[in-house]
Amino acid sequence: MAYLVPTIDGAADEQSWDPGMIKVNVVTREGTRICVEGTEGMLLMEAIRNNGIHELLALCGGQLSCCTCHVYVDPIFADRLPALSKFEDEMLENSDHRKPESRLSCQIPCTAELDGIRVEVAPKD
Ligand code: FES
Repeated sequence: MAYLVPTIDGAADEQSWDPGMIKVNVVTREGTRICVEGTEGMLLMEAIRNNGIHELLALCGGQLSCCTCHVYVDPIFADRLPALSKFEDEMLENSDHRKPESRLSCQIPCTAELDGIRVEVAPKD
């Protein structure tokens, strides 16, 4: 099966699709655009890091204690994300690079409605 995946620059690429697979469009700190896949239920952090984007360190493994999985999520996906928890908000307050679109990728499960999500890896603190 093939379908169109929106790319970071607003274009669309035809790509193969496996049910349960979520496409994640990532912009690295150097500006490289990479499309990776995750499975439903996997954390967004895992989908990024496990596909070789190691600048997303995720040092605490998703325990909400390091902020090294910080990403900027394209605002068009904002209303599809889980709500920002008090603890995630407090962690992001420790970042010098926080923006309104900041999220910790370990707090976002991959779901079908996030298919094609666009994120940018935040600068290192
Ligand atoms: S991996 Fe440490 S806060 Fe997300």
